[in-house]
Amino acid sequence: PSAADLARAESLIATIPDFPEPGILFRDISPLLADAAGLRTVAEAMVAPFAGTFDVVAGVEARGFLLAGALAVASGTGLAPIRKAGKLPRPAGSVDYALEYGTATIEMSDDLAPGTRVLLVDDVLATGGTLRAGQQLLEQLGYALAGTAVLMELAELGGRDVCGPVHSVFTV
Ligand code: PRP
Repeated sequence: PSAADLARAESLIATIPDFPEPGILFRDISPLLADAAGLRTVAEAMVAPFAGTFDVVAGVEARGFLLAGALAVASGTGLAPIRKAGKLPRPAGSVDYALEYGTATIEMSDDLAPGTRVLLVDDVLATGGTLRAGQQLLEQLGYALAGTAVLMELAELGGRDVCGPVHSVFTV
């Protein structure tokens, strides 16, 4: 995508103060998702560095799902959901990770063949705990991590130090 298309797409992300708690600046990607050209631009930008290197896109519930389907169709690949605990009928792998308050667990099925090349995606990289857990889950199930991509990286939180190389379309 062109720099102008990317700038336009970024301008569609709304910044909402004090949500979900006082002091937090929430990045709302809904207006971007609702814009046909904007959605296409960011879908293409998220997969561009990984063209031809992955078989499946894995999105992390819930907001990662919003992008994963678009990325899979845009790149002619399949899709695999990484779900929060308790949602899958046949979970084959499970990883616990830390949240700001408490812990969470993500799970995945083993529908993919061993060694399947997976592009791990999410909407936002914050502390990096979620994507690190996603990487560990893919490894646990014997899949190959082709790369990790996010729409937006919150750089000051240092998530990149936790989950390694990440392709982020926008950095704030
Ligand atoms: C948000 C976001 C990422 C994660 C990033 O998800 O969609 O998945 O936090 O944070 P981290 O880098 O500090 O781990 P959330 O857990 O709020 O769930 P949701 O997608 O269901 O809204």
